[in-house]
Amino acid sequence: MEIVSSLLDLRTARLSLDGTVGLVPTMGYLHEGHLSLVERAKAENRRVLVSIFVNPSQFGPSEDLSKYPRDLERDLSLLRPLGVDLVWTPTAEIMYPPGYQTWVEVEALSKGLEGAMRPGHFRGVGTVVAKLFNATQPDKAYFGQKDAQQVAVIRRMATDLNFPLEVIVCPTHREADGLAMSSRNVYLNVDERRAAVVLFRALSAAKELHEAGERDAERLRARMKETLAGEPLAQAQYVSCADYDSLEELDTVTGKALLSLAVYFGKTRLIDNFVLG
Ligand code: PAJ
Repeated sequence: MEIVSSLLDLRTARLSLDGTVGLVPTMGYLHEGHLSLVERAKAENRRVLVSIFVNPSQFGPSEDLSKYPRDLERDLSLLRPLGVDLVWTPTAEIMYPPGYQTWVEVEALSKGLEGAMRPGHFRGVGTVVAKLFNATQPDKAYFGQKDAQQVAVIRRMATDLNFPLEVIVCPTHREADGLAMSSRNVYLNVDERRAAVVLFRALSAAKELHEAGERDAERLRARMKETLAGEPLAQAQYVSCADYDSLEELDTVTGKALLSLAVYFGKTRLIDNFVLG
């Protein structure tokens, strides 16, 4: 496993990768969710490239950039046994050289849900992922359904900018009790960790209602809100039942839909989603 940081070293190492290349972009502090993407990439490509970069431009001024957990040695020790060929760990100076002023914005898809709560977040994500694609030239790139709006934004960006690659979406990897794995779960104390399963329970309750034939989106949202309200440590920020493609809030569920929510436990903000239909 080769580990490079500079653009020149990346280019040299990338040129030496023969056959198809799968890219797994990450911000590090890897968990089994990330590793499931790496395993999928390994199964579908001759070579696997993982990038580790905590991207400043996707964090808001009041968000946890400086506190974001980092442990490169641990990350590398988790990647080695999976047969990863190349790890790229660029610095902020490489990704955003002095005088930086070029941005990628996916307009409508970035507006609602996470985009409404985190202004500028998807501008940062779209930009950094376009730069990662440019620099690494993968055949396929792997993302988790866990971040549903991110996936929608990146798919749109890849199509709109004519990137010659396939965006692959992988299922959300969960703890035994249903909590979606996330680097942010380490911030939860014991009580909050126990309470955090309520995201999965709220989504499951709405999904059951949908399976029983309910098509009124407001009732599905209400079911999620009721479930969340039953957990005193959970502070819901939003619940949504939106069209899967446009991410616009629905009145009636007809085709594929996205149930999603964002919930605070103390200062820790967790998100999760289910796809219906
Ligand atoms: P990060 O949060 O490190 O996540 C890297 C990738 O792992 C993303 O595609 C994310 O959706 C996926 N992932 C996270 N938790 C998962 C889980 N429980 N199951 C399956 N996949 C999961 O997302 C980012 O980094 C950044 O925004 C990035 C795309 C790297 C751009 O900076």
